[in-house]
Amino acid sequence: MKVIRTRDYDDMSRKTANIISAQVILKPDCTLGLATGTTPIGAYEQLIKWYEKGDVTFAEVSTYNLDEYRGLTGKNPQSYRYFMNHTFFDHIDIKPENTHVPEGANLDAEIACREYDELVRKAGHLDLQLLGLGRNGHIGFNEPGESFSKGCQCVDLTQSTIEANARLFDNADEVPRQAYTMGVQTIMRAKMIVMAVSGEDKAQAVHDMIHGPVTPHCTASILQLHTNCVVVADEAALSLC
Ligand code: F6R
Repeated sequence: MKVIRTRDYDDMSRKTANIISAQVILKPDCTLGLATGTTPIGAYEQLIKWYEKGDVTFAEVSTYNLDEYRGLTGKNPQSYRYFMNHTFFDHIDIKPENTHVPEGANLDAEIACREYDELVRKAGHLDLQLLGLGRNGHIGFNEPGESFSKGCQCVDLTQSTIEANARLFDNADEVPRQAYTMGVQTIMRAKMIVMAVSGEDKAQAVHDMIHGPVTPHCTASILQLHTNCVVVADEAALSLC
């Protein structure tokens, strides 16, 4: 696990964007696993700027997002599909049909997860998987538990995740209680993993991810076993390391 220490959120965002853009330049038809949440917004904004300057094109890229709330359609402004379209995809030249997010509108969890696993499996090993880190150490929505998940699954969000995500809703009651998420084994199959993390509220999770035992009680700790994982973290996130 390689750790890149950055000054602050902006520095972390530019360095994360640099790694992603290098991947796209080296392999224009690459497959990217993408994350939502607050952390990657700065990196997406930077990539849009480079796209607008003509430095990078996404015309042949395919993307696979980590997760989606169960029960929300892509038209719902709180859905991760909506977030990805509005934050990133609508501003670059990626083909909409090459962007993939679990189907939150499909309430049949078994079918929704099976179909998403099938899509990702067909893509082969993702070239680069971007991750954010939950305060409780989750990756995707793989919450702390007794074992690491394999394929896509429907999860009950923990109270801490519901509270953390409530800032994006009018109130905590509106946060969906379940989500579909890519499994840990699928994430670990990516050829390269880039974990972007910022802020003091993530410091304990960052410490446990890097220095703690590999345990499903801190899902991200499994990244210690990946052979090509880079953590891009700012000073605040690394303050306990
Ligand atoms: C989002 C995702 C989550 C977030 C994590 C951090 O697609 O998979 O694991 O990356 O909850 O969220 P932020 O960046 O909002 O702190």
